[in-house]
Amino acid sequence: MDIVGIDALRFGVTDLDAARRFFSDWGLNEIERSAAGLRFNTLDNGEIEVRLERDAGLAPAVVSGPTIREVIWGVASKENLDAIGAELEKDRKVTRDPDGTLHSTDATGYAIAFRVSRAVALPVSATPAVNLPGEVHRIDRRANFSTRVTIRHLGHVVFFAPNLQEASDFYMKRLGFLLSDAYVNVGTFMRARKAPQHHTLFLLNGAKPGAHHVAFEVGDFHEVMMAGMAMNQKGWETEFGPGRHVIGSNYFWYFKTPCGAATEYYADMDYLTEAWKPRQWKTVPAETIACWLAAPEPRWKAIANANDDS
Ligand SMILES: [Fe+2]
Repeated sequence: MDIVGIDALRFGVTDLDAARRFFSDWGLNEIERSAAGLRFNTLDNGEIEVRLERDAGLAPAVVSGPTIREVIWGVASKENLDAIGAELEKDRKVTRDPDGTLHSTDATGYAIAFRVSRAVALPVSATPAVNLPGEVHRIDRRANFSTRVTIRHLGHVVFFAPNLQEASDFYMKRLGFLLSDAYVNVGTFMRARKAPQHHTLFLLNGAKPGAHHVAFEVGDFHEVMMAGMAMNQKGWETEFGPGRHVIGSNYFWYFKTPCGAATEYYADMDYLTEAWKPRQWKTVPAETIACWLAAPEPRWKAIANANDDS
């Protein structure tokens, strides 16, 4: 079950123009636009496909309104695909596209699919942009101040799961996901077996199913801030952040979207090996959600206004 990551996400939305504006402003690369919908990709070819929610080509919706309609997981080989198909056919319907893509559902009823990954390797920068004391990489060159940030990787998705244990067990026991950390009875951070970042899937206990957010990786903390501030300036509203998570260690900045799930810019997430020891928290201490959190924009404005009056 060598799942290497999220190969693509399919959204069903009510307003294609708003979705196009959002994902274009977000920094994704548009690769297809037609009356039927839109496709974007990341630098490593993670795909976002957007169609109208009533599109008969989309998997059935678990919740009404704009949302993620299918997660397409990338696997390492055709043999992996066959193994996943055989495993899932034990107790659920599996269909196959002519190109070999498998479609099925998870324990909550969310549509999932599997295909041999179409991801491409990210280019390695020969000249890292960061200067550290005693470790200088950027010489005779200013930092990159572009507000147009390249989205490098489609990193993780987060869904509500009314039966968290059963939902998490499905991914870990049937599809080989590994436990990275957990809030007992509240949330399970998991990574696909061949995806070394801290989490590719986070399931959250919730009374109702639904998508929570999708996370996109950018280069570094500077890019999280440049991209997030540009989104705010274009009128897109912050959901949460910017800040730095403790679980996963990633810098983050979340935005509200017209697509039914928040989106997150992130950078500098933990990379794990089999040596990692998952930790289980019995509560959800605020300090594990963020080690620091900048005030949301309205607060910044309030401070600026107060300063103007003084
Ligand atoms: Fe996230």
